[in-house]
Amino acid sequence: MNDPIIPPLAPVALHHALITWQQQNGRHDLPWQQQPTPYSVLVSEIMLQQTQVATVIPYYQRWLEKFPNFESLAAASEDDVLALWQGLGYYSRARNLHRAAQFVVAERGGILPPCSEQLREVPGAGPYTAGAICAFAFDHPAPLVDGNVTRFFSRYFGITGDVTSSRVSKHIWQLADDYTALQNNRVYAQALLDMGATVCTPSQPQCHGCPVQSSCNAWQTDRVLQLPEKKKKAPIPTRAGWFGLDVDPTGVVLVQRDAAAVWPRLWCLPEFTEQPTKLELHGEFRHTFSHYKLNAQVFTYQAAADSRRVPWQELTDYALPTPIRRYLMALKKKL
Ligand code: ADE
Repeated sequence: MNDPIIPPLAPVALHHALITWQQQNGRHDLPWQQQPTPYSVLVSEIMLQQTQVATVIPYYQRWLEKFPNFESLAAASEDDVLALWQGLGYYSRARNLHRAAQFVVAERGGILPPCSEQLREVPGAGPYTAGAICAFAFDHPAPLVDGNVTRFFSRYFGITGDVTSSRVSKHIWQLADDYTALQNNRVYAQALLDMGATVCTPSQPQCHGCPVQSSCNAWQTDRVLQLPEKKKKAPIPTRAGWFGLDVDPTGVVLVQRDAAAVWPRLWCLPEFTEQPTKLELHGEFRHTFSHYKLNAQVFTYQAAADSRRVPWQELTDYALPTPIRRYLMALKKKL
């Protein structure tokens, strides 16, 4: 006979276990944990959406020095905002943050309340970000679900089914809501994120270090590595792209892309609409977008005399698409 399954802890008992664990084993020295405000939480959470903590830290610090509050960010030019984001990639996040600051200043007098519904009206702030601002800036009770929390809850409660489906996602948000800590939600929310980042990890989870291992459904049913379940993604198509390279020891010719193009308003090598037949191939790079893969070829060409040639030492003042920046950095080393 199998041992009976131990059910999940009730909310207050789970809070107690996770909060105690967080205080002893969680992260306390992250820069956005020091004197959090709605602004600093919004900045850090948007940066952390697609980028790892270690990469985000210096960007976050530079950002708060240059734009310490909603007002200074709202007043900045888009070029300055994008240039400071340069290297983090996914520039739409920087544009959203800029728009969010303009919204908060123009429509909310520069102040955000500890209320999820109102926070969700901020451009670019979804339910996760709204919950994070409530929890981290105000220590208010509000649920927050990201990939880390999804993984922890789906394992702990033994939730099967595709976690990207709306049915399972709603179920997990409901659990997160039922399990929101009415007191100390700041530490509890940080515990959920820290658990997902350091113990309840996607591969090689550290179950021996988990404070709630004995009541974890996935642990007891030997399904830790099967959960959460995700539908296999359909393979994405590949497209070709052709770029022109005109470099000399002083700099490289760049053009600012159209607002409606892929990589809107970023500075880039000029792109050809067709494959050049008479130009020499200089190199290739690949880049994966959310909906397709780009196989790019770079051709040496001679730009018109009045083109903008960006000096090498000024390249970091320009917002470039990440693969183009990498390509040029590798090239600059060889010059
Ligand atoms: N990932 C997303 N939000 C985070 C936070 N506040 N601290 C650490 N990692 C995170």
